[in-house]
Amino acid sequence: MSPETLSIFSPALAARFDALVSNYPVKRSALVPMLLYAQDEVGYLSDGVIAEIARRLGLTELDVRNVASYYSMLRFKPAGRYNIQVCTNICCMLRGAYELYDRFQEELNIGPHGTTPDGLFSLEEVECIGACSWAPAIQVNYSFHDELTPDLVAGILADYRAQAGVPTDRSSSVGWKAQAERTKEHA
Ligand code: FES
Repeated sequence: MSPETLSIFSPALAARFDALVSNYPVKRSALVPMLLYAQDEVGYLSDGVIAEIARRLGLTELDVRNVASYYSMLRFKPAGRYNIQVCTNICCMLRGAYELYDRFQEELNIGPHGTTPDGLFSLEEVECIGACSWAPAIQVNYSFHDELTPDLVAGILADYRAQAGVPTDRSSSVGWKAQAERTKEHA
């Protein structure tokens, strides 16, 4: 049977993977983009995702897991609709990352690496996300927010709740953006 017949991915993504693999002289070069696309579709790197990508690239599942575990944006369990990654590496730590991380836990009422009961938010601590000059920084899915303080956390969450259509206090959402801009002006 063809890879598409056996695929756990949508026909469109399976076809995309076929094309992607043929673009590289060495098949495994397609591994990281395939992992990202698979995560976007499935939500996380399930055992089935790992197995199929390994098969498509002629790798072992251990090869795939070893590479995937290096990247903080790749995950092995389901995340919330908005996955909040707080950088606690050195630059961010020195500028208050742990206070920020604590405030997210308080506001969401979850622990480290937790997910809210409604599945809207998940929270994790990650290594450097490449925004050191604007520390402390966080990443929510593919969006960055930087030069943050704990007082901005409630507004950030309100903004994402509003995006998801969850009733929220819009004034706190507007407020955090204005405050963040003022922080940058005075930096
Ligand atoms: S140390 Fe936090 S973004 Fe680099």
